[in-house]
Amino acid sequence: MNFYKIYQNKKVLVTGATGFKGAWLCLWLHILGARVYAVGYSPNKNKNLFYSLNLHKKIKINILDIRDKKKLSSYIIKNKPQFIFHLAAQPLILDGYKEPYKTYAINTLGTLNILEISRKSKFVRSLICVTSDKCYESNFSTKGFKETDRLGGVDPYSGSKAAAEIIIKTYIESYQKKQNLIGIASARAGNVMGGGDQSPNRLIPDIVNSLQSKKKIILRNPNFNRPWQHVIDPLNGYLMLGAYLYKNPKKFSGAWNFGTEKNTVTSVLTIVKYAIKNWGYGQLKIKKQKKFYEQTNLQLNIEKSKKILKWKPKYKISESVKLTIEWYKNVFNNKISPEDITKKQILDYMK
Ligand SMILES: NC(=O)c1ccc[n+]([C@@H]2O[C@H](COP(=O)([O-])OP(=O)(O)OC[C@H]3O[C@@H](n4cnc5c(N)ncnc54)[C@H](O)[C@@H]3O)[C@@H](O)[C@H]2O)c1
Repeated sequence: MNFYKIYQNKKVLVTGATGFKGAWLCLWLHILGARVYAVGYSPNKNKNLFYSLNLHKKIKINILDIRDKKKLSSYIIKNKPQFIFHLAAQPLILDGYKEPYKTYAINTLGTLNILEISRKSKFVRSLICVTSDKCYESNFSTKGFKETDRLGGVDPYSGSKAAAEIIIKTYIESYQKKQNLIGIASARAGNVMGGGDQSPNRLIPDIVNSLQSKKKIILRNPNFNRPWQHVIDPLNGYLMLGAYLYKNPKKFSGAWNFGTEKNTVTSVLTIVKYAIKNWGYGQLKIKKQKKFYEQTNLQLNIEKSKKILKWKPKYKISESVKLTIEWYKNVFNNKISPEDITKKQILDYMK
């Protein structure tokens, strides 16, 4: 798919632009020649990437709270985006336990506001709401969740994403199918890695902080398995989905999984070993600790996206870690700027 043809000169709004995935997506869209409108929030836990990619010099960032419908609405109406990628969220499971009300409010009301403003607009044609692989009800199966599987969630973060999914579905059923003016989709991906993530309590930032300060990497759950993927893979899926929705809103509205290939769940221990190998040195220490509940062995079934969108993940887990560590190592050693290496990794991916 030729992204340049689709996104060049198009008006694209990205919420959560100051976050990890959002900053990568904004840079990618900027490379494609899109006119990007960015919404972020302050204080922002994952604060550095948007600025270290120099995106503030290329894209006007609007700091607002997506729970504030009035402000969000006037910003969207003023700028009239044709595409919206809604990524803004409280995305951390641990913070969900600490602040359930806030997590529910941002993840559900924020999504509802975006849907409602888009529905009433005459200009939004392609709306993608990013939720999570955690939106499914745990069934302890290792087969992989299909888009039609039951939604659920034990912890507040997962529940908030499942609730957002229900809201999205009602908008598709009630408005998309009847009016066919706007394409609405939800995108479900799993744990991502890549350069520049600064979020607290995420595996890669923790590993890199220890490697940079030459401290032992402390592993609390070495055998915890997750379907890790490089951030570029699901972002590629979001961009493809955005393009398909733009062309044919009716056909492509709905839920889409952007996970890894079958049987690719990988343990935390393996990720750390790959990271140490690519960094060149490093030590680890296992300090077992009972963790809060988080679904393990969670895998997505990606057959629908593969068959209909012709999307598939490109990087194996060893390559994802390699690219991620290459990013941090080169930036840490001042060999390349965060902007240049991110751009390079995006352009290499598109080749
Ligand atoms: N990173 C992952 O591994 C992962 C996995 C599955 C799903 N997701 C989902 O992907 C999306 C992006 O995640 P991320 O890793 O980039 O998170 P992040 O924490 O790096 O970014 C979150 C973004 O949301 C913004 N935000 C938070 N509250 C806001 C509010 N009230 N108003 C406006 N903006 C607000 C923040 O400013 C930031 O820009 C989220 O929806 C998340 O749930 C992420």
